[in-house]
Amino acid sequence: MKVDLTTRYLGLELRNPLVASSSPLTGVVDAMRELEDAGIAAVVLPSLFEEQIEHDEMEMARLAEFGAEGFAEALDYFPELETYNTGPDVYLEHIASAKDALSIPVIASLNGVTVGGWARYAKLCEQAGADALELNVYDVPMDVDISGAEVEQRIIDVVRTVGEGLSIPLTVKLSPFFSSLPNMAKRLAEAGAKGLSLFNRFMQPDIDLDKLEVRPSVELSTSSELRLPTRWIAILRGRVDLSLAATTGVHMAEDALKLLFAGADVTMMASALLRHGASYPRRVLEELRSWLIEREYESVEQLKGSMSLQRAPDPSQFGRGQYMRTLVSYSTLEL
Ligand SMILES: Cc1cc2nc3c(=O)[nH]c(=O)nc-3n(C[C@H](O)[C@H](O)[C@H](O)COP(=O)(O)O)c2cc1C
Repeated sequence: MKVDLTTRYLGLELRNPLVASSSPLTGVVDAMRELEDAGIAAVVLPSLFEEQIEHDEMEMARLAEFGAEGFAEALDYFPELETYNTGPDVYLEHIASAKDALSIPVIASLNGVTVGGWARYAKLCEQAGADALELNVYDVPMDVDISGAEVEQRIIDVVRTVGEGLSIPLTVKLSPFFSSLPNMAKRLAEAGAKGLSLFNRFMQPDIDLDKLEVRPSVELSTSSELRLPTRWIAILRGRVDLSLAATTGVHMAEDALKLLFAGADVTMMASALLRHGASYPRRVLEELRSWLIEREYESVEQLKGSMSLQRAPDPSQFGRGQYMRTLVSYSTLEL
């Protein structure tokens, strides 16, 4: 039996809903070729970081702001950038090489929080051949005088500025930490975003008790983290005019299925690919296909969003109702 896995994302026709999200794996053309051979439907390249653009373009402005010493100190926060990807020019070449090597869509990624030199680089990514652009607005507001409203406005302004003059679709990779994510999503759509990638997975700092140092720690995700994007995708599906990508916790076909039922247009993988290698999508896609065939689904389109807030048999499960019920059921089990 045949099952149609195709899905539409950001106006792009994809052969299935499995996308490789931004990670070191998509920084290597050979690895992306292997991902494509294993069935991946699109790739998101590692981000070009604002700090790298600033490296090149805004060094003088930074010097004026911090003084030479402060600037050197600021750069110390990003010691690995040179090895993660080597800067704007190399990044643009990477887009072009990926386009040459692959026939699936290539999505470029910019990562930062200020308007800065982004708008120009967004255009350059487009010219280098990117099929879409993902804007990763990873911010950690630490100033007690900056309100949530200001943080949100800054993101909206970045999206509007970057989107202006861009012909390829622009999608925004967000953190889950908003007081009203649905309102933020609506405003992002109004500012020109065509999609959302939910969510950014923050690298949380750890404290080394022996050395008394704060150190960054990169831990790969697990499937249990899937529930956060599942809830918000289910809430947003059909209520904002945006393509929805789920990123965080997609490790198996079942994970992808849950997110598709919630309303995702695509499900992205990073940790699973880093853990199992670039050929892993083949297995996930086989399992996805078998699951659909066994339950007599004819297409991914058919199930997409059928468990979203608007269509779920019990929508309260996505809101407060779930909280109360879960707590009650736990204490009943334990007593
Ligand atoms: C080592 C590593 C590097 C990453 N680099 C980027 C990046 O450059 N830009 C970005 O937007 N996300 C980056 N991510 C985040 C992933 O794209 C993804 O959103 C996140 O890991 C959650 O998905 P997962 O559960 O499949 O890992 C990175 C993740 C890992 C583990």
